[in-house]
Amino acid sequence: MKRILLFLMIVGAMSLAACGNESETIDAPTPTEAPLEPGDAVRGEKLYKQTIIGTANSAGCAACHSLEPDVTLVGPSHATIGADAASRVPGMSAEDFLRESIIDPNAHISDGFTVGAMYANYGEELSAQEIEDLVAYMLTLQ
Ligand code: HEC
Repeated sequence: MKRILLFLMIVGAMSLAACGNESETIDAPTPTEAPLEPGDAVRGEKLYKQTIIGTANSAGCAACHSLEPDVTLVGPSHATIGADAASRVPGMSAEDFLRESIIDPNAHISDGFTVGAMYANYGEELSAQEIEDLVAYMLTLQ
């Protein structure tokens, strides 16, 4: 009888410990990121036109995207990307489309272009704020 009691106590203690662990992971403080300011189109334009950007000194956007209508460099012209972005992917806002196009360029491939043609590491090399600034700038390209 005593053994059974001891066994139950051990099992009980173990499950309590397991519960304890679980709540610990849930309650653990999540690292807080500095709150983002709204994107700044002036900063975004400067960054967009820089020849080298990001922590790995990668080519800037203007190396591959023209701001002249219908001029294709490596990628499509961005002369009216601010107006076009809202209708690129049904149900996706212009902001979300532009943000995703920078972070994950292969998520949606522009008509007439191929997968992998756009540089794909900006999501790691640019800060979240820089990406918001680029989005804000591109929205002004009507
Ligand atoms: C190495 C060339 C290259 C660079 C550098 C580049 N892009 Fe692109 N980009 C492309 C190509 C090619 C496409 C079309 C293929 C695709 O959708 O992935 C594209 C597509 C896009 C699109 C979608 C356009 C549309 O009309 O659907 C956006 C938005 C965009 N790029 C933004 C940027 C921004 C912002 C930067 C700089 C941070 C940048 N790109 C840098 C080549 C590039």
